[in-house]
Amino acid sequence: MTILCINVDHVATVREARKITEPDLVAAALICELAGAAGITLHVREDRRHAKERDLALLMQTAKTRVNLEMAATNEMVNIARKYHPHQVTLVPEKREEVTTEGGLDVARHIKKIGDITHKLQKSGIRVSLFIDPEEKQLIASAKTGAEFIELHTGRYCDARNETAVKKQLDALVRGAEKARELGLRVNAGHGLNYRNVKPVAAIEGIEELNIGHSVISHAIFVGLERAVKEMLALIREATSR
Ligand code: PXP
Repeated sequence: MTILCINVDHVATVREARKITEPDLVAAALICELAGAAGITLHVREDRRHAKERDLALLMQTAKTRVNLEMAATNEMVNIARKYHPHQVTLVPEKREEVTTEGGLDVARHIKKIGDITHKLQKSGIRVSLFIDPEEKQLIASAKTGAEFIELHTGRYCDARNETAVKKQLDALVRGAEKARELGLRVNAGHGLNYRNVKPVAAIEGIEELNIGHSVISHAIFVGLERAVKEMLALIREATSR
Protein backbone atom coordinates (compact mmCIF):
# COMPACT_ATOMS: atom_id res chain seq x y z
CA MET A 1 0.00 0.00 0.00
CA THR A 2 1.24 3.47 -0.86
CA ILE A 3 0.89 5.99 1.93
CA LEU A 4 0.53 9.75 1.63
CA CYS A 5 2.66 12.12 3.68
CA ILE A 6 1.84 15.79 3.46
CA ASN A 7 4.64 18.32 3.26
CA VAL A 8 3.40 21.26 5.33
CA ASP A 9 6.24 23.69 4.52
CA HIS A 10 3.89 26.01 2.64
CA VAL A 11 1.81 26.57 5.75
CA ALA A 12 4.98 27.92 7.35
CA THR A 13 5.70 29.93 4.19
CA VAL A 14 2.37 31.76 4.56
CA ARG A 15 3.02 32.30 8.26
CA GLU A 16 6.48 33.70 7.53
CA ALA A 17 4.99 36.14 5.00
CA ARG A 18 3.88 38.09 8.11
CA LYS A 19 6.23 36.56 10.66
CA ILE A 20 3.39 35.99 13.10
CA THR A 21 1.78 32.84 14.48
CA GLU A 22 -0.84 31.96 11.88
CA PRO A 23 -1.57 29.81 10.03
CA ASP A 24 -0.67 27.33 12.74
CA LEU A 25 1.49 24.48 11.51
CA VAL A 26 0.48 22.09 14.28
CA ALA A 27 -3.22 22.62 13.49
CA ALA A 28 -2.50 22.03 9.80
CA ALA A 29 -0.69 18.78 10.56
CA LEU A 30 -3.55 17.62 12.75
CA ILE A 31 -6.10 18.28 10.00
CA CYS A 32 -3.93 16.37 7.50
CA GLU A 33 -3.77 13.42 9.88
CA LEU A 34 -7.52 13.48 10.58
CA ALA A 35 -8.11 13.50 6.81
CA GLY A 36 -6.04 10.32 6.46
CA ALA A 37 -2.46 11.37 5.83
CA ALA A 38 -0.07 8.77 7.20
CA GLY A 39 2.70 11.21 7.95
CA ILE A 40 3.83 14.84 8.05
CA THR A 41 6.88 16.03 6.15
CA LEU A 42 8.81 19.16 7.03
CA HIS A 43 11.90 20.68 5.44
CA VAL A 44 13.96 22.64 7.95
CA ARG A 45 16.24 24.59 5.64
CA GLU A 46 19.60 26.00 6.52
CA ASP A 47 18.21 29.55 6.11
CA ARG A 48 14.99 28.65 8.05
CA ARG A 49 12.97 30.47 5.43
CA HIS A 50 9.78 28.56 6.31
CA ALA A 51 9.85 25.76 8.89
CA LYS A 52 11.87 26.44 12.04
CA GLU A 53 13.43 24.14 14.59
CA ARG A 54 10.54 25.04 16.90
CA ASP A 55 8.03 23.69 14.33
CA LEU A 56 9.86 20.39 14.34
CA ALA A 57 9.87 20.34 18.15
CA LEU A 58 6.12 21.02 18.29
CA LEU A 59 5.31 18.48 15.59
CA MET A 60 7.32 15.83 17.39
CA GLN A 61 5.16 16.42 20.46
CA THR A 62 1.82 16.58 18.67
CA ALA A 63 1.88 14.45 15.51
CA LYS A 64 -0.02 11.22 15.92
CA THR A 65 1.36 9.66 12.77
CA ARG A 66 5.01 10.18 11.91
CA VAL A 67 7.33 12.99 11.04
CA ASN A 68 9.65 12.90 8.05
CA LEU A 69 12.34 15.58 8.36
CA GLU A 70 13.83 16.73 5.09
CA MET A 71 17.25 18.23 5.66
CA ALA A 72 20.63 18.95 4.16
CA ALA A 73 23.47 16.52 4.85
CA THR A 74 25.26 18.74 7.37
CA ASN A 75 26.47 18.19 10.92
CA GLU A 76 24.27 21.03 12.17
CA MET A 77 21.19 19.23 10.85
CA VAL A 78 22.36 15.86 12.16
CA ASN A 79 22.46 17.40 15.64
CA ILE A 80 18.94 18.75 15.20
CA ALA A 81 17.69 15.35 14.00
CA ARG A 82 19.32 13.63 16.96
CA LYS A 83 17.70 16.09 19.34
CA TYR A 84 14.15 15.59 18.07
CA HIS A 85 14.32 12.07 16.70
CA PRO A 86 11.92 12.14 13.73
CA HIS A 87 10.67 8.83 12.39
CA GLN A 88 12.60 9.37 9.17
CA VAL A 89 15.16 11.80 7.81
CA THR A 90 15.21 12.43 4.09
CA LEU A 91 18.53 13.88 3.00
CA VAL A 92 18.09 16.48 0.26
CA PRO A 93 20.47 18.79 -1.58
CA GLU A 94 20.09 22.41 -0.59
CA LYS A 95 21.09 25.58 -2.36
CA ARG A 96 20.31 28.95 -0.82
CA GLU A 97 19.10 30.53 -4.08
CA GLU A 98 16.68 27.79 -5.13
CA VAL A 99 12.91 28.28 -4.80
CA THR A 100 12.43 24.60 -4.01
CA THR A 101 14.64 21.49 -4.02
CA GLU A 102 15.86 21.34 -7.62
CA GLY A 103 17.70 18.13 -8.40
CA GLY A 104 18.30 14.96 -6.44
CA LEU A 105 21.29 14.39 -4.18
CA ASP A 106 24.49 13.53 -6.01
CA VAL A 107 25.17 10.49 -3.85
CA ALA A 108 27.59 9.03 -6.41
CA ARG A 109 29.83 12.09 -6.04
CA HIS A 110 29.54 12.54 -2.28
CA ILE A 111 29.24 8.93 -1.27
CA LYS A 112 31.64 9.17 1.68
CA LYS A 113 30.00 12.27 3.20
CA ILE A 114 26.45 10.98 2.68
CA GLY A 115 27.44 7.53 3.94
CA ASP A 116 28.91 9.07 7.12
CA ILE A 117 25.84 11.22 7.80
CA THR A 118 23.54 8.25 7.11
CA HIS A 119 25.50 6.15 9.55
CA LYS A 120 25.40 8.83 12.27
CA LEU A 121 21.62 9.14 11.95
CA GLN A 122 21.10 5.39 11.91
CA LYS A 123 23.26 4.99 15.00
CA SER A 124 20.76 7.27 16.74
CA GLY A 125 17.95 5.00 15.59
CA ILE A 126 16.70 7.29 12.80
CA ARG A 127 15.68 5.77 9.50
CA VAL A 128 17.32 7.43 6.49
CA SER A 129 16.00 8.08 3.00
CA LEU A 130 18.05 9.68 0.18
CA PHE A 131 16.29 11.95 -2.30
CA ILE A 132 17.74 11.05 -5.70
CA ASP A 133 17.00 11.22 -9.40
CA PRO A 134 16.04 7.84 -10.89
CA GLU A 135 19.51 7.15 -12.27
CA GLU A 136 21.34 3.85 -11.96
CA LYS A 137 24.58 5.36 -10.66
CA GLN A 138 22.71 7.21 -7.90
CA LEU A 139 20.80 4.07 -6.97
CA ILE A 140 23.95 1.97 -6.76
CA ALA A 141 25.72 4.63 -4.69
CA SER A 142 22.67 4.99 -2.41
CA ALA A 143 22.69 1.26 -1.68
CA LYS A 144 26.37 1.52 -0.77
CA THR A 145 25.70 4.20 1.87
CA GLY A 146 23.60 1.76 3.90
CA ALA A 147 20.46 3.95 3.72
CA GLU A 148 17.27 1.92 3.97
CA PHE A 149 15.17 4.08 1.66
CA ILE A 150 15.49 6.29 -1.37
CA GLU A 151 12.95 8.89 -2.44
CA LEU A 152 12.72 9.02 -6.21
CA HIS A 153 12.63 12.62 -7.45
CA THR A 154 9.50 12.86 -9.59
CA GLY A 155 10.24 16.41 -10.77
CA ARG A 156 11.32 15.55 -14.32
CA TYR A 157 8.18 13.45 -14.79
CA CYS A 158 6.01 16.29 -13.45
CA ASP A 159 7.74 18.85 -15.67
CA ALA A 160 7.44 16.76 -18.86
CA ARG A 161 5.26 18.63 -21.33
CA ASN A 162 4.20 16.09 -23.95
CA GLU A 163 3.10 12.47 -24.00
CA THR A 164 6.44 11.10 -25.21
CA ALA A 165 8.37 13.00 -22.57
CA VAL A 166 5.93 11.97 -19.82
CA LYS A 167 6.24 8.31 -20.85
CA LYS A 168 10.03 8.53 -20.91
CA GLN A 169 10.17 10.01 -17.40
CA LEU A 170 7.58 7.60 -16.05
CA ASP A 171 9.58 4.67 -17.46
CA ALA A 172 12.66 6.03 -15.70
CA LEU A 173 10.74 6.04 -12.41
CA VAL A 174 9.44 2.50 -12.97
CA ARG A 175 12.95 1.24 -13.77
CA GLY A 176 14.37 3.22 -10.86
CA ALA A 177 11.92 1.66 -8.41
CA GLU A 178 12.67 -1.81 -9.79
CA LYS A 179 16.43 -1.37 -9.63
CA ALA A 180 16.24 0.10 -6.13
CA ARG A 181 14.37 -2.93 -4.88
CA GLU A 182 16.87 -5.27 -6.55
CA LEU A 183 19.57 -3.42 -4.61
CA GLY A 184 17.65 -3.96 -1.37
CA LEU A 185 16.44 -0.37 -1.07
CA ARG A 186 12.90 0.59 -0.11
CA VAL A 187 11.27 3.26 -2.26
CA ASN A 188 9.47 6.56 -1.62
CA ALA A 189 8.74 9.21 -4.24
CA GLY A 190 7.79 12.84 -4.51
CA HIS A 191 8.20 16.39 -5.77
CA GLY A 192 5.83 18.19 -8.10
CA LEU A 193 3.07 15.59 -7.83
CA ASN A 194 -0.45 16.96 -8.24
CA TYR A 195 -4.05 15.82 -8.73
CA ARG A 196 -3.52 15.28 -12.46
CA ASN A 197 -0.22 13.42 -12.48
CA VAL A 198 -0.18 11.42 -9.25
CA LYS A 199 -1.93 8.23 -10.33
CA PRO A 200 0.71 6.69 -12.64
CA VAL A 201 3.36 7.25 -9.95
CA ALA A 202 1.18 5.87 -7.16
CA ALA A 203 0.64 2.78 -9.32
CA ILE A 204 4.36 1.98 -9.63
CA GLU A 205 5.11 -1.36 -8.00
CA GLY A 206 7.02 -1.05 -4.77
CA ILE A 207 6.56 2.65 -4.01
CA GLU A 208 5.72 2.87 -0.32
CA GLU A 209 5.32 6.56 0.41
CA LEU A 210 4.48 9.69 -1.56
CA ASN A 211 5.50 13.09 -0.22
CA ILE A 212 3.27 15.83 -1.55
CA GLY A 213 3.12 19.48 -0.53
CA HIS A 214 2.58 22.27 -3.02
CA SER A 215 -0.45 20.93 -4.89
CA VAL A 216 -2.33 19.90 -1.75
CA ILE A 217 -1.72 23.13 0.14
CA SER A 218 -2.60 25.14 -2.99
CA HIS A 219 -5.85 23.22 -3.46
CA ALA A 220 -6.59 23.68 0.24
CA ILE A 221 -6.80 27.45 -0.26
CA PHE A 222 -9.96 26.84 -2.29
CA VAL A 223 -11.50 23.71 -0.79
CA GLY A 224 -10.02 23.49 2.71
CA LEU A 225 -7.17 21.31 3.90
CA GLU A 226 -9.24 18.31 4.95
CA ARG A 227 -10.89 18.00 1.55
CA ALA A 228 -7.64 18.62 -0.32
CA VAL A 229 -5.94 15.76 1.53
CA LYS A 230 -8.93 13.44 1.11
CA GLU A 231 -9.11 14.08 -2.64
CA MET A 232 -5.41 13.28 -3.03
CA LEU A 233 -5.76 10.14 -0.94
CA ALA A 234 -8.72 8.98 -3.04
CA LEU A 235 -6.61 9.23 -6.22
CA ILE A 236 -3.76 7.28 -4.65
CA ARG A 237 -6.17 4.59 -3.47
CA GLU A 238 -7.77 4.34 -6.91
CA ALA A 239 -4.34 3.94 -8.48
CA THR A 240 -3.21 1.26 -6.04
CA SER A 241 -6.41 -0.75 -5.69
CA ARG A 242 -5.93 -2.64 -8.92
N1 PXP B 1 10.04 15.42 -1.52
C1 PXP B 1 11.12 16.21 -1.30
C2 PXP B 1 12.43 15.55 -1.00
C3 PXP B 1 11.01 17.61 -1.33
O1 PXP B 1 12.10 18.38 -1.12
C4 PXP B 1 9.75 18.18 -1.56
C5 PXP B 1 9.59 19.67 -1.54
O2 PXP B 1 9.96 20.18 -0.31
C6 PXP B 1 8.65 17.32 -1.76
C7 PXP B 1 8.83 15.94 -1.75
C8 PXP B 1 7.27 17.86 -2.01
O3 PXP B 1 7.26 18.50 -3.23
P1 PXP B 1 5.97 19.34 -3.67
O4 PXP B 1 5.83 20.47 -2.69
O5 PXP B 1 6.31 19.78 -5.04
O6 PXP B 1 4.81 18.39 -3.61
